[in-house]
Amino acid sequence: MTETIEHQGPTTFDGRDGRLDRFDRALRDLRISVTDRCNFRCPYCMPKEVFGRDYAFLPRAEILTFEEIRRLAGIFVGLGVRKLRVTGGEPLVRHDLPDLVAMLAPLRTPDGQPVDIALTTNGSALRRLARPLADAGLRRITVSLDSLDDDTFRRMNGVDYPVARVLDGIAAAREAGLTPVKVNVVLRRGLNESSVLSLAAWARAEGHVLRFIEYMDVGTTNGWRLDDVVPAAEVVATIDAAWPIEPLEPGYRGEVAERWRYRDGRGELGIIASVTRPFCGDCTRARLSAEGKLYTCLFSASGHDLRELLRAGATDDELTSRIGAIWTVRADRYSELRAQATDRLPKVEMFALGG
Ligand code: GTP
Ligand code: 5AD
Ligand code: SF4
Ligand code: SF4
Repeated sequence: MTETIEHQGPTTFDGRDGRLDRFDRALRDLRISVTDRCNFRCPYCMPKEVFGRDYAFLPRAEILTFEEIRRLAGIFVGLGVRKLRVTGGEPLVRHDLPDLVAMLAPLRTPDGQPVDIALTTNGSALRRLARPLADAGLRRITVSLDSLDDDTFRRMNGVDYPVARVLDGIAAAREAGLTPVKVNVVLRRGLNESSVLSLAAWARAEGHVLRFIEYMDVGTTNGWRLDDVVPAAEVVATIDAAWPIEPLEPGYRGEVAERWRYRDGRGELGIIASVTRPFCGDCTRARLSAEGKLYTCLFSASGHDLRELLRAGATDDELTSRIGAIWTVRADRYSELRAQATDRLPKVEMFALGG
C-alpha cells in the first residue's frame, strides 16, 4: 500500500444509509472503467497528438479481470452502492463485455433491491453488441454524440468516424429495449455549439434523453480553457427560445444532470453544468480504474490501489474496511474549488478513470 488512511474513528455505516464521507455524502454510485483504450480520439479527452501509435496503454496483466471487478463491485454494493456504471475508455473495446454485465446483473443491495447497471459508450459497437448487452441484463445505456453534422462529428471524434454509424448504434440500442437512450453532448465553443438545436430536434423526435455537458478541465492533455466552455445557461436559453422548457425535480439525490422538460410534453433533456454550477455537495460517486485504483473524485491526482490488495489475498472484510476507510476520509469537491485552485498537481486523464 502506498498511502495511509489516518481516520480511525467510529464509522457511520448502518447498512441502510451507507458509509458517509467528511461532508456527509454517502457512497452510492460506482463507475467502473473496464479499459483505458478507445477507438476514438476526441480532442477533449484523448488528443491524437498525445495518444498516438506509440502510446503505452495498460498491459493486460495490469487490468482487473471480470472476476476481480465482480468481487469488488459486490463489496461496494455491500457498502451502499446502488448504481454501477460501466465505462472506459470505450468499454465495448473490452472483449466479451456482455459476460461482465451478466456477472454484475445478479447483485442485490443489502435490502434486496436489484442494482442499477448502466453503460456509457461512444456507440460505435452497438449494432453488434446492444442485443447481447441487453440479454446479459443491461437496462440503461448512455451514448456520447457531439453533433449530427457528419463533418463536425468526424472532427470531434478525431478518427474521421461517420456519424451515421453511431446513429445506427443508437437505433440498435433502442431495438434492444435499452430505452430511453441517453445521449451525452460535450459542447465546445466554436466547434459544435451550432449543433444544439438540431440535436434537440432529433432527440425529441426519436424519444431520446439528450444531455448537454459543459466541457471540463479533466486531465492535463486537452488544453482546457474557460473560454471553450459553453455555459449551461446559454444552452437553456437557446433551447427555450425554440421550444419552451421548464425545470423538473431531480430524479434522485445527487443526480448530475439538471432535468428540464419541454412544455409541449415532447420529452425531456438534461444539463450537466459541472463548471458553472458545480454539484460536489451531493456527489456520491466513486471511480474504479481499469487497473484497480479507486478514485474519490474525477479530478483526483492519485488513486488507491485495490488490485494490490486483491492479488495479495485480502479477504472481503479487509477490502470492505479498506474501501470504507478511504470513503470516510473523503473531502473532495474540486469543481466547487476550481476557481480558487492554486495547486497544479497532475490530474488523471478522464479516459483512465471512467468519466
Ligand atoms: P444517470 O443519472 O445514472 O443516467 O447517469 P449520469 O448522468 O451519472 O452518468 P453519465 O456517465 O452520463 O455522466 C454524464 C457526465 O457528467 C459524465 O460523463 C461527466 O462528464 C459528468 N460527470 C459525471 N459524474 C461527474 C462527477 O462526479 N463530477 C463531475 N465534475 N462531472 C461528472
Ligand atoms: N469534459 C466534459 N465531458 C467529457 N467527456 C469526456 N471528456 C470530457 C471533458 N473534458 C464525456 C464524454 C462522455 C462522458 C464519458 O464524458 O463525451 O459522454
Ligand atoms: Fe473515447 Fe469517450 Fe474519450 Fe471520446 S470521450 S476519446 S469516445 S473515451
Ligand atoms: Fe464529485 Fe469531484 Fe465531480 Fe465534485 S468534482 S462532483 S467531488 S467527482
